[in-house]
Amino acid sequence: MEPIEDLDVLAEDEVRQRQADKDLDEDQLDQIKHGYDEATGDKQVYIETYGCQMNVNDSGIVASVLEESGYGLTRDQEDADVVLLNTCAIRENAERKIRTRLGMLRSEKEKRDGELMLGVLGCMAERLREKLLEQEDLVDVVVGPDAYRDLPRLLYEADATGQAAVNVELSKQETYEDIQPVRYDSNGVSAYVSIMRGCDNMCTFCVVPFTRGREESRPVTTILSEVAQLAEEGYKEVTLLGQNVNSYHYTDEDGTSVSFAELVDRVSRVSPEMRVRYSTSHPKDCTDDLLKVHRDRPNVCNYIHLPVQHGNTEVLDRMRRTYTREEYLALTERAKELCPGVSLSTDLIAGFCGETEEQHQDTLSLMEQVRYDHAYMFKYSERPQTYAARKYEDDVPEDVKQRRLEEIIERQNQHAKESNEEEIGRVHTVLVEGPSKKSDEQLFGRTDTNKGVVFDREDYEKGDYVKVRIEDCTSSTLLGTAIEKTTLAEAARTDSITTEPAVA
Ligand code: SAH
Ligand code: SF4
Ligand code: F3S
Repeated sequence: MEPIEDLDVLAEDEVRQRQADKDLDEDQLDQIKHGYDEATGDKQVYIETYGCQMNVNDSGIVASVLEESGYGLTRDQEDADVVLLNTCAIRENAERKIRTRLGMLRSEKEKRDGELMLGVLGCMAERLREKLLEQEDLVDVVVGPDAYRDLPRLLYEADATGQAAVNVELSKQETYEDIQPVRYDSNGVSAYVSIMRGCDNMCTFCVVPFTRGREESRPVTTILSEVAQLAEEGYKEVTLLGQNVNSYHYTDEDGTSVSFAELVDRVSRVSPEMRVRYSTSHPKDCTDDLLKVHRDRPNVCNYIHLPVQHGNTEVLDRMRRTYTREEYLALTERAKELCPGVSLSTDLIAGFCGETEEQHQDTLSLMEQVRYDHAYMFKYSERPQTYAARKYEDDVPEDVKQRRLEEIIERQNQHAKESNEEEIGRVHTVLVEGPSKKSDEQLFGRTDTNKGVVFDREDYEKGDYVKVRIEDCTSSTLLGTAIEKTTLAEAARTDSITTEPAVA
C-alpha cells in the first residue's frame, strides 16, 4: 500500500481546496487531514459489482484497500454503513440498470435518515463524474477505476463534511501491482489475476478507452508472486485479465522485455496443477508464439476468447478493429492447425452504424466458418464520446437490430448444441468448481476447453481434477459420469496418448 504519509500530503492539498470552497472549521480540517486512517473503526462496507471480470477483480482491490484502513466487509446490504456500486458503462442498458439500483438505494438511505453512505465506482463514475452528483444528488463518493487507493480518504472526507467527494483521475502508472485483491466471492478454485489496465485501441464503438484510460502492464514479478500465492492457497486455475490482454508487454529494470506469450509461459510454470486462462484477447495481438504456448504447455487451456465483433471487412474497418475478415479467418485456421481441438469463443455486435443486410449476412457466414463454442452477442448501443457517436449515424432501426441479433443468437445456439453433441462419448479432464446449480448431489466443473460439465458427486470434491465421460448434453452444458480422480500432469500424458494417432 501507498504509505499513509503520502496520502496525508495529498489530503492536505485537497483540504486547502475544500477550505476555500466550503469554509470548514478547524476541527473538521484536522479530522480530514489525520482522521481517515484511524476513525473508520468497525464500519461495514457492501460492494456490488456490475460489468466485466475486470470490475470483479477491481472490487477485490477496493475491498483490500478498505480492509487495510479498518473497514469490515459484509455480504448483507442491511448491515452496511457504506454501499459501493462498482459500475459499467459499456452499453446504455448497463447504465440504466445502475440508475434503477441507485433509485432503490435512495429510498434505503431515506429510511435510515441519511446514515447510509453511497459510492459510485468504476466506469460509470469515470464517464459521468460530477454529473452523477448533480443528477442523483444522493451519492457521497464518486471514484474512478484508477483512484481506489484514495477511497478511504474520500469516504472520510464525505462523512466529515457532508459533501460529496470525487476522484476520477486516470493514471498511466496505476496497476495496483502490490495489492492482493480480496477474493470474497471466489469459489476457492479459480481466481482472476489482473495483468494490465486500460486500452489503447480506440475501437470506434467502445467507451472503455475513455473510462479506463491508457494501457499499462503490471510488472512480471508481482504477477508471478500472486499466482504462486494462489497456488499455495489451493487455487487450481487463474485467468489473466486485461481489456487487451495479449498486448501485454513489460520491460524490467535490466531492460529485459517480456511479451504476453512469455508471460503466459512463465505463469504456467508456477505450478503444473494450475490451469491458465486469459481474457480478453485482441486478434491483432494473437501471435504464433502465443499459439505455441497453448500447444506446448499442458496447463495452458486449449481455449481462446477471440472477439471478432463483425464478419464484414468494411464494417470492421469502420469499427477500427485493424484486421480484415480474411485475416481473422486465417488466424482461426492457424489456431486450429497449431492447437488441434482448440475451442474458440467470440463477441459480436449486431446493427453497427451503416450495417447493411448483406454485411449482417457476412457475420452469419463467418460464424458458420469458425463455429464458435460460445459467443457474447450484443445490439450496438451508441456511447457518448466515442468516434462512432461523433462521426457515424446510428442508423439501423431498433427492430432491425433486434432481428439481426436474434438471428445471430439462433445461429450460435445451433452451433453450441452441435459442438456439445460431438462431445458425447469423449472423456474430459474436469476441474470441479463446486455443487451444480440444481442439486447438491451433483458437481459442476469445466473442461480444458471451458465447457461446463455436470456429473454425480460421489466422493469427488471442489478443486479435484476428475476424468468425466460425456453421456448427454444441452446447448449450454455437458452431462457426464465420473471415471476417476486425476492430476493435470497425468491427464496431459494420457490425453496425448489418446489424441496422437499411432503412425502405421
Ligand atoms: N476488450 C475486449 C472487449 C471489451 S467490451 C475486446 O476488445 O474484445 C466487451 C464487448 O462488449 C465487446 O467485445 C463488444 O462486443 C461489446 N461492446 C463494446 N461496446 C459496445 C457498444 N457500444 N455496443 C454494443 N456492444 C458493445
Ligand atoms: Fe474496447 Fe476495442 Fe479496447 Fe476492446 S479493444 S476495450 S472493444 S477499445
Ligand atoms: Fe464495463 Fe468498464 Fe468492464 S465499461 S465492460 S466495467 S471495463
